[in-house]
Amino acid sequence: MQTASADKAIAAGLFRPVRLGSLELRNRIAMAPMSRYLCPDDVPHQGVVDYYRRRAEADVGLIITEGTYIGHPSAASYAGVPHFHGEALAGWARVLQAVHAAGGRIFPQLWHTGSFRQSWMGPVKGVPGFGPSENFNAFTMHPEPTRAMTEADVEEVIGAYARAAADAQALGFDGVELHAAHGYLIDEFLWDRTNRRTDRWGGDRRGRTRFAVEIVRAIRGRVGPDFPVSLRWSLWKQQDYQAKLADTPTQLAEILEPLVEAGVSILHTSTRRFWSPGFSDEGDLTLAGWTKKLTGLPVIMVGGAGLDRAGIDVVTQVASLDVLEKPLRGDEFDILAVGRALLADPEWARKVGEGRIGDCRPYSRDLLDSLG
Ligand SMILES: Cc1cc2nc3c(=O)[nH]c(=O)nc-3n(C[C@H](O)[C@H](O)[C@H](O)COP(=O)(O)O)c2cc1C
Repeated sequence: MQTASADKAIAAGLFRPVRLGSLELRNRIAMAPMSRYLCPDDVPHQGVVDYYRRRAEADVGLIITEGTYIGHPSAASYAGVPHFHGEALAGWARVLQAVHAAGGRIFPQLWHTGSFRQSWMGPVKGVPGFGPSENFNAFTMHPEPTRAMTEADVEEVIGAYARAAADAQALGFDGVELHAAHGYLIDEFLWDRTNRRTDRWGGDRRGRTRFAVEIVRAIRGRVGPDFPVSLRWSLWKQQDYQAKLADTPTQLAEILEPLVEAGVSILHTSTRRFWSPGFSDEGDLTLAGWTKKLTGLPVIMVGGAGLDRAGIDVVTQVASLDVLEKPLRGDEFDILAVGRALLADPEWARKVGEGRIGDCRPYSRDLLDSLG
């Protein structure tokens, strides 16, 4: 591939250091959270330490880890996902040490999988999936409906998020990210199709946002005002790529404003193609741009960086960064998260910085089998 000349200017834009509240980053490139399902004992092992170290050593400014389960028996569904409680914390401490030694910063992504869980799944068999309402998860085609959470369940799960964030801070992590996207538990509360509650945890957009708000409040109560708390949200759901939490910027503000008031410090807007307009009837501002405009918070943008625009194929070729030109010029984001391109090539950030994007290894699905 011929490296576009625009890529050099874009790389210079990405390599500007940035300060977001108490967080200082050497550049604006983050590794997007990517589950790898390669921790059979639920504990990050040496292979995981080396996997993140390689990206930090090759100039990634911020690593957001793969989703990691909070300490509640209803949080887990898929096997091989590292936990963020108990014995697993010692493994995470080693990951953290390796990333810091390489000059990187790192947030764990705190995860509760909601209705993706079924009661036959580990580690505590018999515990059903939790959700705002009794939902059948059509995406996973699992037969069991989730348990509509009781007040006590809600309190317990909020407590588990707060404990995980406090543990992250005590270990020395640079912040935490809440996985509130893609149809998992927090997003199930946000979405009217999966939240049909009529109590204070449901209702209109503000009501449906209350669960996320109370998690953020509980976390703030434990970690204080300055610890970075990122919240990753998305319009789309794995259950339905066309789903929408909001049809207009005004509706989106009804969700984002309470989160800002509760103390979120960074918003991570998850889209599949970051350059697409956030609301097609409202001009060409990206969804990351809308998030910044509506909240004034620092925003992480993601979706398709460095990959061929045709999208997600078995093998996805490396592509120019020219689609970043407009959002960079318009200050539509603060940090660019890079997923598959960084999974494929641990040196992606360094090569981009050196104007060698054409040398990056293309993404292919067989790379998911091991921690390269
Ligand atoms: C293998 C894989 C695992 C993923 N796991 C997670 C995850 O644990 N948490 C999350 O929020 N997003 C997850 N994602 C979504 C990515 O963070 C990212 O948003 C998506 O891949 C689009 O970015 P990209 O085009 O740069 O890859 C995953 C994506 C991939 C490819």
